[in-house]
Amino acid sequence: MTKTVYIKTVGCQMNVLDSEMVIADLKRHGYQVVDTPREADLLLYNTCSIREQAEEKTYSALGKLRDTKANNPDKKIGVLGCMAQKDQEVIFRRAPFVDMIVGPGQLHSLPEMISKVDAGEGRQMAVSMGRKDGKQSLVARSHETFDPLRDPAMRPTPFQAYLRIQIGCDKFCTYCVVPNTRGPEQGRAPSEIISEARILAEQGCLEITLLGQTVNSYRHRSDEGETDLAALLEQLHEIDGIRRLKFVTSYPKDMSRRLLETVRDLPKCSPYLHVPAQSGSDEVLKRMKRGYTVAEYMEMFERIEDVIPNAAVSSDFIVGFCGETDEDFQKSVALVERCRFKNSFIFQYSVRGGTKAAERLEDDVPREVKAARNHELLEVQNRVSKEHHLKMIGSTVEVLVEGPSKKSKNADPDAPAVQMTGRTHCDRIVVFDGNRRQAGQVLDVHIDEVTSNTLIGRVRQVEVVSIGL
Ligand code: SAH
Ligand code: SF4
Ligand code: F3S
Repeated sequence: MTKTVYIKTVGCQMNVLDSEMVIADLKRHGYQVVDTPREADLLLYNTCSIREQAEEKTYSALGKLRDTKANNPDKKIGVLGCMAQKDQEVIFRRAPFVDMIVGPGQLHSLPEMISKVDAGEGRQMAVSMGRKDGKQSLVARSHETFDPLRDPAMRPTPFQAYLRIQIGCDKFCTYCVVPNTRGPEQGRAPSEIISEARILAEQGCLEITLLGQTVNSYRHRSDEGETDLAALLEQLHEIDGIRRLKFVTSYPKDMSRRLLETVRDLPKCSPYLHVPAQSGSDEVLKRMKRGYTVAEYMEMFERIEDVIPNAAVSSDFIVGFCGETDEDFQKSVALVERCRFKNSFIFQYSVRGGTKAAERLEDDVPREVKAARNHELLEVQNRVSKEHHLKMIGSTVEVLVEGPSKKSKNADPDAPAVQMTGRTHCDRIVVFDGNRRQAGQVLDVHIDEVTSNTLIGRVRQVEVVSIGL
């Protein structure tokens, strides 16, 4: 009998990709995906620990399953991802009805764990070693990348896919749990990455986004020598069918001129770089242990402007980090004004257990001040984004069409015209009136109107390329 699985994913692109892999694996073990927990034999929660709020949401979702499990003891519940690695048995304590806890470095063991639970062997836990639990090589080995066969059905669109090139992180920013939850930085072998990219291209994928926490630090050594991100992009660029290559997230200190020149010279590489600054104040950056000063970030930024003049650069900022004064905060505002980022993700600092900041620094910025700074920085960023977009009115951009926009997701499937959405090569969101058949095409769109995060236009030219041609 076919079994059914429901999966809820929160967190970053890594988690979205992990969920795609888990589902591909479970389908090979006879599972079928359903949309609600009610219909499912197996309920999976792929979790995130980056901020307290993300964890609390998961614990509250789990709390709601108490009665479900009591009434349907055969339903199995699994907690996967970063919170599984960080909290481990704590999850069993807070939600005793959970059957399985699986860290992101142990996802391959899920089918076996399910069999054990089914066989009555009791609840199961598979997590990787902590950073200080043993020799570095053993710790690294216990965090295994999980990249079995792909499942196009799980992707947001069939034309776009994430591809992991690096796992873990060794930067140890003082506020961040990722080096603990995802383990040591490890680059995947180029041969594996290339063969996965070929499969994606054969499946009709037009855009690949390479993933890594500090993706531009990617390095892989073998007997043949060392491969860095620039060399990898050159190889990926050769694959027929792929039209766009992106990579996230970049670390400011590792943004070499050679990488930028490669992005400039390879037409499939999107002129889009996500390089989080986190703060515009040297004192704060030092306490965050980001490893650069504002002047060094600016040097890197100017290098981008110099090599790829039209590049779109986006950032992340944390507001209200330990000891951040009004003056420090205004320096983040000034940095947004100076760099005129395409967009910025802004987060209020959240203390995370197991980090240096939690151990050594005081979370002394009041909640209301964090909220006010978040609001102010977002307003400045939105103004900057809108000013840039206004200049794009009247221009024509090349859009990879993703599908109906949010507004028209539920529109009549037979309606002749629906609002469609897609992205430019620079990762800007574009909406236009079109039809569903345009999904997966690359179209020229003339921009008529803009908001701070969207370009609104109309199609100039019929079909440039369509999938399968
Ligand atoms: N590896 C990426 C991003 C990882 S997490 C990088 O280094 O840029 C994504 C974003 O979450 C970070 O860029 C940071 O802005 C934010 N973040 C991480 N830890 C946080 C914390 N404890 N509180 C608030 N925001 C946090
Ligand atoms: Fe976290 Fe810093 Fe690593 Fe990014 S670079 S994942 S913020 S420790
Ligand atoms: Fe969250 Fe883990 Fe990603 S903590 S942001 S899911 S790496």
